[in-house]
Amino acid sequence: MKIEGSVALVTGANRGLGKALVSALLEAGAAKVYAAARDESKVAGGSRVVPLALDTTKPEQIAAAAKKANDITLLINNAGLLTSYNVLTMSPAELDADFRTNVYGTLSVIKSFLPALERAPGGATIVNVLSLTSLASFPPLAGYSASKAAAYSITQALRAELKAKQIDVLAVLPGPIDTDMVKALEMPKTSPADTARALVAGIVRGEEEIFPDPMAQQMGALWNKSHKEYERAFASI
Ligand SMILES: NC(=O)c1ccc[n+]([C@@H]2O[C@H](COP(=O)([O-])OP(=O)(O)OC[C@H]3O[C@@H](n4cnc5c(N)ncnc54)[C@H](OP(=O)(O)O)[C@@H]3O)[C@@H](O)[C@H]2O)c1
Repeated sequence: MKIEGSVALVTGANRGLGKALVSALLEAGAAKVYAAARDESKVAGGSRVVPLALDTTKPEQIAAAAKKANDITLLINNAGLLTSYNVLTMSPAELDADFRTNVYGTLSVIKSFLPALERAPGGATIVNVLSLTSLASFPPLAGYSASKAAAYSITQALRAELKAKQIDVLAVLPGPIDTDMVKALEMPKTSPADTARALVAGIVRGEEEIFPDPMAQQMGALWNKSHKEYERAFASI
């Protein structure tokens, strides 16, 4: 899709990748970006930026946001949570928290914004920010991986359901990004700004699976070659 002239909404836009995505979209010529956050006062302003209160687990806030931002042509579901780790030691409450934001929250936001996206002249795009862990479990982050795998499955289902409505549904599968989420993990990471620019370039190309950083591209090539080798590679990191 063309970013120039588009009206985008980014969830979790107050920090990390979401904040970088707002900048990358403005850089690419978006006419307006709704920067949605749990605390919208933390969103960096600008003449083309509209801060929006949105906790993706709160139905009443989702409904209010969908009413306000009823002109979007591009929805980027970026808000995400990493609370559940090892599969044997995580608690049900930790796993539940990740599913509530990463799976149910994402789906609720998409469903509420569908009327606006269906009205978008010339079609619309939904982008779900997932993870390389959507494609195979990264055992140290097993609960989070399960939530991102579920979100990937839902992304595939939505892609099929919304095709006839001229709504493209894209999955973003990043490797480690240098944000608060993984600050405890010691491994090479890509900057949020570089990841955001590559992600936007993937949207422009209409890639159904966007691998926006060097590790993601390498792992994406391995996944295309052999799902089993991909699983083993992740298990041995
Ligand atoms: N960092 C990585 O290595 C990495 C790798 C692959 C994929 N990802 C994915 O990239 C996306 C962005 O993550 P990040 O690295 O930028 O993480 P981050 O720095 O921890 O930021 C997470 C963002 O999501 C927001 N958020 C969390 N739960 C929310 C909810 N229920 N409603 C609304 N907003 C919520 C946070 O808001 P608050 O400030 O209010 O908490 C924050 O703005 C996530 O989907 C993540 O899973 C990250």
